[in-house]
Amino acid sequence: MSERSGPLADDPFNGRRPTSHERMTGRSWDASYQEGPAPWDVGRPQPAIVRVASEGGFAGAVLDAGCGTGENALHIASLGLQVLGVDVAATALAIAREKADDRRIEVEFALADAFRLEHTGRRFETVLDCGLFHTFDADERPRYVASVASVTEHGGTVYVLCFSDNGPDAGPHPVSREELRAAFDPSDGWKVVAIEPDRIETRFHDGGAPAWFATIERI
Ligand SMILES: C[S@@+](CC[C@H](N)C(=O)[O-])C[C@H]1O[C@@H](n2cnc3c(N)ncnc32)[C@H](O)[C@@H]1O
Repeated sequence: MSERSGPLADDPFNGRRPTSHERMTGRSWDASYQEGPAPWDVGRPQPAIVRVASEGGFAGAVLDAGCGTGENALHIASLGLQVLGVDVAATALAIAREKADDRRIEVEFALADAFRLEHTGRRFETVLDCGLFHTFDADERPRYVASVASVTEHGGTVYVLCFSDNGPDAGPHPVSREELRAAFDPSDGWKVVAIEPDRIETRFHDGGAPAWFATIERI
């Protein structure tokens, strides 16, 4: 895990290759957080995450990959779990840490690339991906899923909440059920337990956008 400093201080990508989303939009993820709340930054945890947490779905050490300004990580940590939120956007992490201080919640936020999660030096019983997977294109997904595999304990659970192609008023980067299944291949040690229709709240969808909530086991 590295903090932004030294010769890379002026590099919005902090020495990493821009993701497909960044290449498409022409701006870094960090830039999305510099001019007020980003479209996905709703200022509260996603209802789907609150529901699963209330059902005891989070256990052990929890990783929130692409945590943004931390609402989901903060909610899970407030239940007494040990949570690490990682993101490539230093501005989002600074906001997340400020919220943790204000709310007196013990939680860790670190600058880390989801393609290199092994650099965290940690392993996790539960991994949350809320809105990250769907930002990756078909070339990036295998590398990302391999990175998640490298830090997920066997028997652990990965949750993916992503925009779906299932219904009107889809969010950007809608994902199909088949794409989710293909990314978490049994031959790579994954078992897709469930892919259920759900919603993702955004700042521009009334009642949220159609989503999948995928529960995936590391075997
Ligand atoms: C759509 S936002 C969702 C943020 C947060 N999970 C939420 O629900 O508000 C996607 C997040 O993933 C982060 N991200 C994108 N690519 C990343 C990467 N390669 N490694 C870590 N974080 C990444 C972005 O900076 C952004 O905060």
